Amino acid sequence: MAVTELNIADVRDAFLVSLNAIHSLQELDDLRVKFTGKKGELTLLLRSVGKLPPEQRKQAGQEMNSLRDEIDIRLAEAEKIIRDAENEKLEIQERIDVTLPPKGRLKGAFHPVLQTMHEIADIMQGLGYSVASGPEHEEDFYNFECLNIPAWHPARDMQDTFYFNDGTLLRTHTSPVQIRAMLQYGAPLRIVCPGKVFRRDNDTTHSPMFNQMEGLLIDKDVSFSVLKGTITEMVNAFFGRSLKARFRASYFPFTEPSMELDIECVECSGHDEDCRVCHGTGWLEVAGMGMVHPNVIRAGKIDPNIYNGFAFGLGLDRLAMLKYGISDLRLLFDGNTAYLLSGWGGEF
Ligand code: DAH
Repeated sequence: MAVTELNIADVRDAFLVSLNAIHSLQELDDLRVKFTGKKGELTLLLRSVGKLPPEQRKQAGQEMNSLRDEIDIRLAEAEKIIRDAENEKLEIQERIDVTLPPKGRLKGAFHPVLQTMHEIADIMQGLGYSVASGPEHEEDFYNFECLNIPAWHPARDMQDTFYFNDGTLLRTHTSPVQIRAMLQYGAPLRIVCPGKVFRRDNDTTHSPMFNQMEGLLIDKDVSFSVLKGTITEMVNAFFGRSLKARFRASYFPFTEPSMELDIECVECSGHDEDCRVCHGTGWLEVAGMGMVHPNVIRAGKIDPNIYNGFAFGLGLDRLAMLKYGISDLRLLFDGNTAYLLSGWGGEF
């Protein structure tokens, strides 16, 4: 009796000590086998009952049975505690924090031309200009006629036009917005108009659709020097530095006098004879401009005897390429989203 009692107490103690040290379901299983398995300590103890003197068997049997029950209960309790703890750990690991930014999110980016458009519009808005727009599907009247380009005018040949059967067309430049803005807002007026324009041109350096930005200022006593100052300011602000500028006499039917602006090559500043951007000339053509022709002001229903002004036109695609070092025009038009989203160099 004494031996059996001792054994029962030993097995119970040993079980409780081992149970205390358990942290995982695997360890719990091992413990279960160690005590209640075929060769487990409790099993062996239970088997030994038969060897006890008959008068001791009943009590020993009862004690062992209650130890077996206790072990079963404690194992079940421990299992529940471990499972709960593991579930909680898992839940914490898998918990979704809806306030965190999504993983692997693609960064969006403006198209370089749109970025350029925004930058120049911003600069011009800083100089008091508003952003205006006009239709891409335009009438001959606004695209040519009002801009002092009558049907017989040779300047129409300069711009290969997409015509519709009814004589309407896809605008070949943003200049028609000059007329629309004058008719809509009157004088004085300061607008820029960015937008798509279309010409029957398609090779490695020309796209049938490209982007321009028109500028128009109408006021009293506007001088040529204000035009030069404005355009120089704009270009320097856009490139973020003071560039050498050169104004060349030119011709546009809608301005008189007319000129074109060349800026110092942003790539080589004129120091590289083999420069891929300026081809060694040291200069880049960036804008056409001039004092608005009186006929154009009149077409806008403004009196050219009271008001005058200037206008300019910029090629946005070219400016985007120059600022962001884009060497192939096709990158702007191919719709290659991988390229466009992967940091073409713009500010995102
Ligand atoms: N419309 C001209 C073109 O597409 C660009 C231009 C030149 C616009 C002179 C102007 C200007 O407003 O004054 O080539």
